[in-house]
Amino acid sequence: MPKQLDSSNIPKHIAIIMDGNGRWARAKGQDRLYGHLSGVDSVRETLKVAAEFGVKYLTLYAFSAENWGRPQQEIDGLMELLVSSIHGELASMHENGVRLTTIGEVNKLPVACVDSLNEAISGTANNTNINLVLALNYSSREEILSATRTIVEQVQSNSLGIEEITVDSFEKALYTKGIPDPELVIRTSGEHRISNFLLWQLAYAELHFTPVFWPEFRREHLVEAIYDYQRRERRFGKTSEQVIFEK
Ligand code: FPP
Repeated sequence: MPKQLDSSNIPKHIAIIMDGNGRWARAKGQDRLYGHLSGVDSVRETLKVAAEFGVKYLTLYAFSAENWGRPQQEIDGLMELLVSSIHGELASMHENGVRLTTIGEVNKLPVACVDSLNEAISGTANNTNINLVLALNYSSREEILSATRTIVEQVQSNSLGIEEITVDSFEKALYTKGIPDPELVIRTSGEHRISNFLLWQLAYAELHFTPVFWPEFRREHLVEAIYDYQRRERRFGKTSEQVIFEK
């Protein structure tokens, strides 16, 4: 553990908007896919370091529902990269106790992606060191609408009363059911937006923005983000005095 970090205050769940692959690659005179390919190295290192620090959930925004609007060649390249990365990393995920799960409309991805994801999800289901949650074909607004449909169906079938529509029952209908909310969200590449990512779950998250492009994101940048998080006082709507007194 780096000495500037407080080992008793490591976020349990970190979510990352991995941004800047394309710009990083273009600035090097390469095509955008080279940026995504290099981004896989950042995924590997971030996962390893997060596990080492005791982070229990790492959620990565790998493909948004809006990303279908990109050039077909880039979409195809990203899907192939997903399949090859999963195959290439499966052994090391096992060695490091990584359990893979997904959020999003994953069944609408190409069949090769669905198959390799399912294989990796069932193959790593008993690992307990860290949960890697890939957001794929993910839209937070769609997630909230889908949860709303589930809740309405439950009410219509009389399995849920209207007064039983609570934060807890609603969360059980989200893709992230059973996953604690992220305490820290990181966005790379200097953009300051949430971009339809975990809108419900980020209600109290600390936001960390870094100008570093995702392919250059390394251990020191994760340390910096956690350090930034640890210097903040999380009040959850209360006063500073209350928070200090409760400690
Ligand atoms: C954002 O950069 C990145 C993506 C949309 C894809 C992220 C995918 C990976 C890092 C590789 C595959 C992931 C896994 C988990 C195996 P951008 O293309 O929007 O960059 P730009 O804003 O510079 O154009």
